[in-house]
Amino acid sequence: RKMQSETSAMNILAKIIIIGDAGVGKTCLLLRYCDDNFLTSHLPTIGIDFKMKNVQIDNKTVRMQVWDTAGQERFKTITQTYFKSAQGVVLAYAVNDRDSFTNLEDWINQVRKYTPPDVSIVLVGNKADMPDRAVTFDEGKALADQNNFHFFETSTKEDTNIKPLFLTMLNDIIKKAEKTMRSDINRADAKYTLAAFKQNDSPSKCC
Ligand code: GTP
Repeated sequence: RKMQSETSAMNILAKIIIIGDAGVGKTCLLLRYCDDNFLTSHLPTIGIDFKMKNVQIDNKTVRMQVWDTAGQERFKTITQTYFKSAQGVVLAYAVNDRDSFTNLEDWINQVRKYTPPDVSIVLVGNKADMPDRAVTFDEGKALADQNNFHFFETSTKEDTNIKPLFLTMLNDIIKKAEKTMRSDINRADAKYTLAAFKQNDSPSKCC
C-alpha cells in the first residue's frame, strides 16, 4: 500500500525513440499520438525532432518525450546518439514497402548495439490501410516473436492501434521504474538497519 502511493507520487519520464526507413510514417506516428493529427504530405525529418505528452495511467502521471528520427542514411549518426538514453523504441516499417521490412535487420542491429539491454521495443507495421500490401501480418509477428518485441500493425491515417502501441510501451517503462524504486528502497532500508545496529553496539562497548 505504502509502495503504491509512493509510486504514484513519483514522476516518471519516459524517453521513446521512433526509428525505421524514410517514409514509413514515423512523423505521422508521433503526430497522431501526441497531437491527434495526420500529415498527408511527406516532409522528411531533418536530423531529429521531439514532442512531449503527459499520460495518466492508473494513478500515475508519465511525462513522455517522443523522439522522431530521420530515416535517411545521412542522419544515422545523429540518431545513434539518441539511442543511449531511450527506454522505449518504436521500430517502424510500412506493410506496403518490402524494403523497409528487409532493412529492419540493420535497424535491429543498431538497437542492440546502442540501446540499454532492458529497453522496451515495439515492432510496428504501419500503413495497414493500404491495399498494396507487401508484408503479411504473420511475417511481422514472426519477426517480433523471434526478437521478443511487442507487435502491432497500425494506420496513422485511420488511427488504428496507435494508442495501444504507446500504452504497451509505457506499461513496460512504468514496471521498470517501479522495480528500480523498490530496490532503491530496499537498499535504503538496509542502510538504516545497519545504522541501527551500530547505534545499539556503541553503548555496550563503552560500558
Ligand atoms: P522520414 O522523416 O523521411 O524518415 O519519413 P517518416 O517515416 O517520418 O514518414 P512520414 O511520417 O513523413 O510519412 C510519409 C508519408 O506516408 C506521408 O505522405 C504520410 O501521409 C504517409 N503515411 C504515414 N502513415 C500512413 C498510414 O498509416 N497510411 C497511409 N495510407 N499513409 C500514411
